[in-house]
Amino acid sequence: MKLNRLLVSFVIMLTGFNTALAEGSSSDETIYSVAKYMTVITLVFILIVLWLVIVYSEKNDRTGQLFLAPLKKLISLISQSTPIENESEILLAHEYDGIRELDNKIPPWFHGLLWGTVIISIIYMIQYHVIGTGNVQEEEYLAEVTLASVERDILIRTGAFINEETVTVTNDAAALKSGEDIFVKNCAACHGMKGEGLVGPNFADEYWVHGGGIKNIFKVIKYGVPQKGMISWQTQLDPKQIQEVSSYILSLRGTNPPNPKAPEGELWVDAIN
Ligand code: HEC
Repeated sequence: MKLNRLLVSFVIMLTGFNTALAEGSSSDETIYSVAKYMTVITLVFILIVLWLVIVYSEKNDRTGQLFLAPLKKLISLISQSTPIENESEILLAHEYDGIRELDNKIPPWFHGLLWGTVIISIIYMIQYHVIGTGNVQEEEYLAEVTLASVERDILIRTGAFINEETVTVTNDAAALKSGEDIFVKNCAACHGMKGEGLVGPNFADEYWVHGGGIKNIFKVIKYGVPQKGMISWQTQLDPKQIQEVSSYILSLRGTNPPNPKAPEGELWVDAIN
């Protein structure tokens, strides 16, 4: 009986450990879920070992018998084998070189397996090939392709494929309007309402500190120049938005806004334009 108490206190301890884990590292989802499964597996394993310890240390008294009873019942239920002391009843008459054969029943678990597969195959056939509510391989494939193309569209829309290497200028009116909104909201304070320059450089002239052209501009906005007071915007603007505001900045060239800041950097001659 002492062992029973030990078992109970072990369970309490492990449950406590699991709860502590659940409250703790939620930052890394993957590690957390792996740890969770490991805990459950360890718990089950320890319970089985403890159960075996109890059974074998006390198997000759009542508690041991009580613990063993369900296992014995289960085994006899799924195997229905003849107990060793009654084997003479099923011994067949023939004998080969001293080897005799027992006329054992086919165990129920084997029947279960056979009939289980037969029943499942009928259900499968009706569901997949008669009613057609299940996805056969081809439909499953098509469903996955559709899902993937929807995901791809979303990625294209948010500009996940746009970076400083691939970015191009957009002349789309809606995109330029969105770029202007982003500029007025986030950038005008330092670069002037019309991009004439204030704390930050003038965008309406031909001179650039970090190089002109969409790729250089995109790069500066994405990574910033923190030591000079231009922050990195990649955590606040998605690539599509950076492309839009970059294109808007390029559209300011030659607009001659009032109160322009003196040119900074080098004269940029666009290779394409
Ligand atoms: C807090 C002030 C501040 C804000 C806000 C700010 N910038 Fe800047 N930006 C600067 C400064 C200062 C520089 C110059 C950095 C240098 O000299 O290296 C700069 C440089 C730049 C450059 C490079 C210019 C060149 O000549 O190479 C670009 C492009 C730019 N900013 C775009 C933006 C955009 C787009 C936003 C808004 C999303 C923005 N900035 C918001 C201060 C700011």
